[in-house]
Amino acid sequence: MNAAVIDKQQVAASFSRAAATYDQVAALQRNVGGNLLSRLPDTLKVEQLADIGCGTGYFTRALAEHFAKPVLGLDIAEGMLHYAREHSTSSITWLAADAEALPLRSVSQDLLFSSLALQWCPQLPLALSEAYRVLRPGGCMAFNTLVEGTLGELRDAWQAVDGFVHVNRFMPVGPLQEMLADAGFERWHCEIEQHVLYYGQLSELTHELKALGAHNLNTGRPSGLTGRARLRALTAAYEARRQSAGLPATYQVAQILLFKGLDQV
Ligand SMILES: C[S@@+](CC[C@H](N)C(=O)[O-])C[C@H]1O[C@@H](n2cnc3c(N)ncnc32)[C@H](O)[C@@H]1O
Repeated sequence: MNAAVIDKQQVAASFSRAAATYDQVAALQRNVGGNLLSRLPDTLKVEQLADIGCGTGYFTRALAEHFAKPVLGLDIAEGMLHYAREHSTSSITWLAADAEALPLRSVSQDLLFSSLALQWCPQLPLALSEAYRVLRPGGCMAFNTLVEGTLGELRDAWQAVDGFVHVNRFMPVGPLQEMLADAGFERWHCEIEQHVLYYGQLSELTHELKALGAHNLNTGRPSGLTGRARLRALTAAYEARRQSAGLPATYQVAQILLFKGLDQV
């Protein structure tokens, strides 16, 4: 997604509203973040670390346990931080923060972890340059983000109904890789993972997106309620994609490791 189409205040408000429901529907998010965790190199020496866009804090707690170090949980949504604080121990410090303007000292962190948060940044290069600034030499930024093709079935089904943007726009892989190459890191890897979820009914998918706080926040989205006739048309268009396992919803995830300095594999 990009600067023209993301309103950070709306993003924060939407995720704050979803804090109490997020964990109940976040199976894909657990899976994708777990895959990122398992990619962290064993050789990484970690004293200071932060989880950017920590949400309810699931991976912040996992990082605190894995490294046995105090962790910073950073998020733009106060509601998420409040929920995370209530469900965690004291080895984690929770802080309201924007990934594009980190309230952290330069050259202070060994690991920055971020799962499924940076697709909400209007300017990913800004978040990457902030990461580079706060990392120590030998440090690593591990993040994943959604790329083009994500929720493509829903986008196409809406396209068949009207011309509005109903699905968040996700960056194509080529421009993402250019941003990674230009971010100043001495070494980086990017791998694309595809996940396909199946639903019995379209409403299960749309309710899940709402419970995650991840429903459409693009400008150009239609205002007001979705009329019954349009919902029927959308359902019919999506039903045309039904498979034996159900209605598919595809997620394309870029799993990325960025290394500052040359001494990490
Ligand atoms: C899909 S949730 C992921 C939460 C958590 N990382 C997980 O995997 O369960 C995305 C989170 O990113 C946060 N977020 C979005 N934009 C952000 C920004 N610019 N800076 C910091 N956090 C942001 C949201 O508030 C939300 O809590």
